[in-house]
Amino acid sequence: MINFYGTPTLETDRLILRRLVIEDVQSFFTNWMSDERVTDNLIKGAHKSISESVERVTNIVNEYEDQEFCYWGIELKATGDLIGAIDFYHFDLTTENCEVGFTLGYEWWNQGYGTEALKAVMEFGFRHMNIHKIAAAHNIDNPASGKIMQKVGMKQEGLIRHMIRNAKNQYKDCAVYGIFQEEYLV
Ligand SMILES: CC(C)(COP(=O)(O)OP(=O)(O)OC[C@H]1O[C@@H](n2cnc3c(N)ncnc32)[C@H](O)[C@@H]1OP(=O)(O)O)[C@@H](O)C(=O)NCCC(=O)NCCS
Repeated sequence: MINFYGTPTLETDRLILRRLVIEDVQSFFTNWMSDERVTDNLIKGAHKSISESVERVTNIVNEYEDQEFCYWGIELKATGDLIGAIDFYHFDLTTENCEVGFTLGYEWWNQGYGTEALKAVMEFGFRHMNIHKIAAAHNIDNPASGKIMQKVGMKQEGLIRHMIRNAKNQYKDCAVYGIFQEEYLV
């Protein structure tokens, strides 16, 4: 059985993973959600105005009432900046599997933060939540995302053609990855 604890604060060497609060809206919008370099790799497009981010962050904050909601803001300890977000979603209570998604602001790419955040939620997901399998997918134009999946021990399981259609109406082929709890905990 999956143990749901909501979204507790997790800490790594350089990061604090924590719940978003409504005061995070400006950082959420400025640091990644309005930036096409970041959102090009996601299904939903960039936010054009801060009101879209107000609505999204308000929804996230309200969803924390649900114990099954796992959505962390990624805060950089050194500066206090909110630099991205990472979440578990699509929990399947029959298989006890879920998926993980992550986003970092462009300014903070390629400094190991994505890997560090993914490791932290995987540790929490497998050791404390008792998730059976964590899966993820990235479009093949976005190799950095696949790289961090590999770096935390996820294995590529296949490639799905036209798995997503992004906000620019482009179909993308995606590589799918996964890792089992028993593989992680060896
Ligand atoms: C995917 C993402 C979270 C990665 O975060 P990050 O903090 O930059 O990742 P890390 O620094 O931990 O690792 C990135 C790795 O990708 C590698 N990389 C970067 N660009 C690459 C490229 N074009 N081709 C191959 N490898 C690449 C880096 O060299 C690094 O590997 P290394 O440590 O072995 O050198 C970040 O790029 C991002 O937010 N992208 C936009 C949103 C997104 O794509 N989300 C995932 C959707 S599936």
